Amino acid sequence: MKICVVGYGAMGHIVCELLASELAYPVGLECEYKTLEETDKAFDCIIDFSNPANLDMIVSFAEKYNTPVVFATTGYTDKELLKIEELSKKVPVLRSANFSLGVILLNRLVKEITPILKEDFDIEIVEAHHHHKVDSPSGTAKMLLESAQMATGFTPNYERLGYCPRKPDEIGMHSIRGGSIVGEHEVLYCGEDETITLKHSAQSKKIFAVGAIKAAHFLVGKPVGYYNMEDVLFGGKN
Ligand SMILES: NC(=O)c1ccc[n+]([C@@H]2O[C@H](COP(=O)([O-])OP(=O)(O)OC[C@H]3O[C@@H](n4cnc5c(N)ncnc54)[C@H](OP(=O)(O)O)[C@@H]3O)[C@@H](O)[C@H]2O)c1
Repeated sequence: MKICVVGYGAMGHIVCELLASELAYPVGLECEYKTLEETDKAFDCIIDFSNPANLDMIVSFAEKYNTPVVFATTGYTDKELLKIEELSKKVPVLRSANFSLGVILLNRLVKEITPILKEDFDIEIVEAHHHHKVDSPSGTAKMLLESAQMATGFTPNYERLGYCPRKPDEIGMHSIRGGSIVGEHEVLYCGEDETITLKHSAQSKKIFAVGAIKAAHFLVGKPVGYYNMEDVLFGGKN
């Protein structure tokens, strides 16, 4: 396969290393190709691990050259997410806030146990990342929140400072930033005298690159549509 990797930062480097046996074309400020239009344009798929600032470039290229896209970048605004949804009506698109198998399973568990626990347990979501991460909460924490919200209709609370008694219908959201933490996500179900904790720890960034490459292989040849990692791992929606 001929894969174009947009963004040649930490993740872009790992993806290109893992793609050694395939054809990888990095696009980034320090690469031979600075923009997608400078490339030879014939790719089976684009994998984007960069920044929302590159979205318009990717969307117009994918539309023009009918190229499937795996979006791994996080921190998109709602308006940008709509653009990705629009693109998925023209080419196959897969977006995931997290490409690790373990996190996708964690998300599945949240969908399954939240309806059972929502009456008697308070839900809190905690994430921790390295001090270079610019967006907060993490895309993965938002994904876990969305899954918990689907089952409860509760509202997120991002700030607790001073007098702020906990409401029964809120989900506390907490972000820790420090050092070189790769990525930790915890969903706590806190009941009377007992707490259930679902936790995932990423020990290296490689797991995300492996998942994104798996997603690219899945996407090539698929009908136009908006896919996610659950489709890759479990087949079918939800
Ligand atoms: N979904 C997942 O599983 C997952 C996992 C890890 C990371 N991520 C996300 O993937 C993205 C990249 O992560 P990373 O760890 O590789 O970060 P990084 O090391 O900071 O690399 C990001 C790259 O994006 C490009 N970039 C940054 N700011 C830009 C701007 N304003 N305009 C255009 N290009 C810009 C730069 O590449 P060039 O200089 O080469 O253009 C930069 O090296 C982040 O959004 C991160 O949250 C997602």
